[in-house]
Amino acid sequence: MTDLYTEALKTFSGLLEEARAVGDPEPTAMTLATVGEGGQPSARTVLLKGVDERGFVFYTNYESNKGRQLAANPRAALLFLWKTLREQVQAKIEGAVEPVSAAEADAYFASRPRESQIGAWASLQSRTLASRELFEDRIAAFEQKFAGDEVTRPPYWSGFRVVPEMMEFWYGARFRLHERQRYERLDGVWQTRMLYP
Ligand SMILES: Cc1cc2nc3c(=O)[nH]c(=O)nc-3n(C[C@H](O)[C@H](O)[C@H](O)COP(=O)(O)O)c2cc1C
Repeated sequence: MTDLYTEALKTFSGLLEEARAVGDPEPTAMTLATVGEGGQPSARTVLLKGVDERGFVFYTNYESNKGRQLAANPRAALLFLWKTLREQVQAKIEGAVEPVSAAEADAYFASRPRESQIGAWASLQSRTLASRELFEDRIAAFEQKFAGDEVTRPPYWSGFRVVPEMMEFWYGARFRLHERQRYERLDGVWQTRMLYP
């Protein structure tokens, strides 16, 4: 890890805190972009559940579209847009993706509300749902299965960590020029520069 990477992570964490402080309704919501085997990019919102020098963590169903795309092509882009922060701020992260450890996923799963834990079992995420009742029946069935017990983590539900190779911050400015600062790891060394906005 280099000082510039530390600086980029600190900038990110500072902005996230600021977004929370100014009342952003979903400060950890981020667009996750992946590319599957066919080369078609796909994007959806997920929640950031952890960030440190190892990278940016989110949790999902490994058998979902995104899960299968990441298995085929373990690279991703993340995008935060904090609309109510300053004059709007965007943070963009790109890098390789790796699974989190089973212990890490277990600990996070255990911290979730019971309804979400049951939901993780009941939802065949990204597959065709013939009727809403079918989903409700599956929820009821898993509630019964785990009645009186702790809900264990489904084997196909876990986290991914995006290990940054690029982090970029775009700062809006209503009456001035926008600012854009990019950090990237080139030949193993973190560098930073400004870009035309
Ligand atoms: C605010 C918000 C937060 C979400 N958070 C997550 C999340 O953390 N994990 C997840 O798997 N899906 C999350 N979703 C649902 C995803 O956007 C998406 O519909 C789902 O993961 C299926 O995506 P896929 O078919 O591309 O795999 C969230 C949706 C919204 C609107």
